[in-house]
Amino acid sequence: MIRSLSHSGKADERCENRVTRLIMRNLISIADLTNAEIEEIFALADDAEELRREKPAAGRIMATLFYEPSTRTRLSFESAMHRLAGGVISCADMRASSAAKGESLADTAKVVSSYADVLVVRHHWDGAVRAMAEHADVPVINAGDGRHEHPTQTLCDLYTLRKEKGELKGLTVAVCGDLKNGRTIHSLVYALARFGANVVTLAAAGMELPQYVLERLELDYGYTLNPLATGDLSAVVTATDALYLTPKQPHQLALFTQMDAAIQSQISALASGLRYDAFYMTRKQKERIKEGAEGDSYPTIGDHFLREKRFKDTVVMHPLPRVDELSPELDRDKRGIYFKQAAYGVPVRMALLKFLFDHAGGKAGKVGNKGILYESPECLGPHCVNSNCVTVTEAGSTRRRFALLSGGPGGALILGCVYCDHRFKVQLVGHVKTKRYCAYDISLRATIGDWLKTNELAIFNSIKEAEELGYEPYESRGQRVIMNDDEIGEAVQSISREILKACQDLDTLLLLGIRTQGSLLARRVAAELEKQNRRKYEVGEIDIYGVDDEIRRISPADPDAGRLNLRDREIVLLDDVIYTGRTIKDALSIIFRSARPKAVRLAVLIDRGHREVPVKPNFVGKHIPSSERERVRVKLRATEGGEKDEAVIYSIVNPNDSAPRPRPQNAPARSS
Ligand code: CP
Repeated sequence: MIRSLSHSGKADERCENRVTRLIMRNLISIADLTNAEIEEIFALADDAEELRREKPAAGRIMATLFYEPSTRTRLSFESAMHRLAGGVISCADMRASSAAKGESLADTAKVVSSYADVLVVRHHWDGAVRAMAEHADVPVINAGDGRHEHPTQTLCDLYTLRKEKGELKGLTVAVCGDLKNGRTIHSLVYALARFGANVVTLAAAGMELPQYVLERLELDYGYTLNPLATGDLSAVVTATDALYLTPKQPHQLALFTQMDAAIQSQISALASGLRYDAFYMTRKQKERIKEGAEGDSYPTIGDHFLREKRFKDTVVMHPLPRVDELSPELDRDKRGIYFKQAAYGVPVRMALLKFLFDHAGGKAGKVGNKGILYESPECLGPHCVNSNCVTVTEAGSTRRRFALLSGGPGGALILGCVYCDHRFKVQLVGHVKTKRYCAYDISLRATIGDWLKTNELAIFNSIKEAEELGYEPYESRGQRVIMNDDEIGEAVQSISREILKACQDLDTLLLLGIRTQGSLLARRVAAELEKQNRRKYEVGEIDIYGVDDEIRRISPADPDAGRLNLRDREIVLLDDVIYTGRTIKDALSIIFRSARPKAVRLAVLIDRGHREVPVKPNFVGKHIPSSERERVRVKLRATEGGEKDEAVIYSIVNPNDSAPRPRPQNAPARSS
C-alpha cells in the first residue's frame, strides 16, 4: 500500500521545525517486499556503520506503539532509529494510553501519525496493524499482529541464515514448535518458499501450520506437503511428526488415501536424503492458547542434537524469547546462533528504515496471488471467520474487504480476509440489480465474473442476510431423485460391511467425516457398525475452513476425553459426494499434518467422477457420472429436518438466462 502526503501538507504546516514529512510505504506483510528489495535491505545492513555516518533519519521521529510486550523488536527498532540520528517517541505501556479509555485504533493511528513520521506497531489482534495503516497519515511497520505475521523478524531470520549459509536457495529449514500461533513462522515460511528453500515442519501436537498458510504456499509458490518418516527426527526433536514442504513436483504423497508399504518406503527414502541446514525453534505462544487447550508435550531440541553427526553443520535459530525448548548446552555451541540473530535486529532494522526513507512514494512490492479485491456493494455481506481478526474485534476501524480467489476445493470460490488472511468458502451469491440469490456453483463462474466487473456481486454468509435485504432465491431446473431413502440406507449398510472387512485392527478404527454432510454420514456409519459389530466406534469431524480446531471429536461426546488422537489409527474419511477430489485432498492434508495414521481410506455416498486430483474412494455408495452444470445434493434427515433421506440431481440455471423474478421458495441448494 502506498501512503502519500505532499511536503506542503497541513500536518507539515503545523510542525515548523519538521524537516520533510516521509512519503513512504507500509510494511505489513513480508509480501510487501520483493525478493530484490529484501536483498537491497541486506546489502544496506551489511554496511550499518556507513548508515550511521550518513544519518538518514536526522530530523525524523519514529513512534513505537506496542500493545503487547516486547524486548527485541521494540528496543532494536528504537536503537536503529537513534543510530540513524532520528528521534523516538513511545508509550511505555499502551494500557496507560488512551486505548485504556476505549480510543479506537483508527483514532490512535490518525493522532499519533501527526506527531511522528513513521509508526512501529505491535498488537494482539490479527490485522490490527493493517487497520491502523489505513488511518495513519505516515507509513506503518508491523512489529507483530496477533497470530498473523511478523515481517521484520523474518528479515532478521533470513539475514542471519544468509550470513551463516551463503544463500537461501536450496536450504532445508526445519521449523519447530507452535506453528499455528507463531506469527514469526508464518512470515518465515512464505519468505523461505519465495527464496526456494525447503521447509520441514515439526509441529507440537495441535499446533500445526494452519490450512490457510499451506494453501497460500501452494497457490502462490507451488509448494506441496509430504509426510516424512515417523521418528526420523524424534531423537533430536522430541514429541513431533515431520512434514516436508517443497517446490519439487511430483511429491504428492499426501494424496494417497492408503498409507501402504510402498508409500511408507518412499517416505523413508525422502527423509533419509535430507540435509538439515537449520532448525528454527519457537516457544509455545501461551498468550494465544485457550486455557485447557494446551497439549502435554512440546518439542525440544536436546543434547542428542549436539552429538548427532548429521547435524554437525545444522544451526539452531529461535526468534526469542525462549522458555525451555532449547538445551542450555546449545548456548555454548557455535551452532546455537539465536543471540546473533537477535543482535542483527539493529542493523537489519536500520537498513529497513533507510530503505523505506529512500523508497518514499515508490510502489509497494506485491508478491504472491492477491486475487481480486472484493468489498460487498450491500450493507450486509461476508465477514471474516477468525474471531481474533480486527474486522471482528474492532469493526469500526476497518472496511470488510477480501481477496476473491478461485481454485478452492471442488472449484470453490474462496474469500481471503485482507486483514488476517483467513480463508473461507463462498456459499451464497446474489445479484444486486435483480435482488436474487443462489448457492455458489462452479458453473456460475463466468456470470459472477461479469457481476464483479459491474460491482453487482453480493456475497452472503447466510440466507438470513440475503433475505433481510429483500433477496429472493433463483430457480433451479428439473430435480431428479438419484438415491431414495432405502437406497441411502442400503449404501450405508454396504459401506459399513466393507469397512469391517477392510479394517485390519478394529481397535484403531476412527470415522472422520468432512463437515457437514460427511460428519452426518460418519455418524450414520458408526450407528450401522454398532448394529453389525456390536461395538461403538469413535467419530470425528474435519472442518476444512476451521479456524481453531480443524479436527474434533463428535462422538463419544466426552469433554474429558482430550484431543482426538489420529496417530497409528485406521481412519475412514467420509463425505457425501466426491467430484473433483480437491475437498478430499485438503482433508488429507489436514490429517497428515496433524499426525501419522496407520491407514486412511475414503468412503463416499456418491462418486460423480471428473477427478482433478488423483484420489480414489475405497468405498462408494453409487457411481453417478455427471456434467459440470449438474448439481448433486444429498439431503440427510438431521440437516434438512425432512422425514426421508434423498439424493437429487438437477441443472443449474444460469442467472443471466433465467426467467423473471420468481416468487420466494425454499432455501437454495448448498454446495456438494
Ligand atoms: N522476536 C521477538 O519478536 O521478540 P520480542 O517479542 O522481544 O520483540
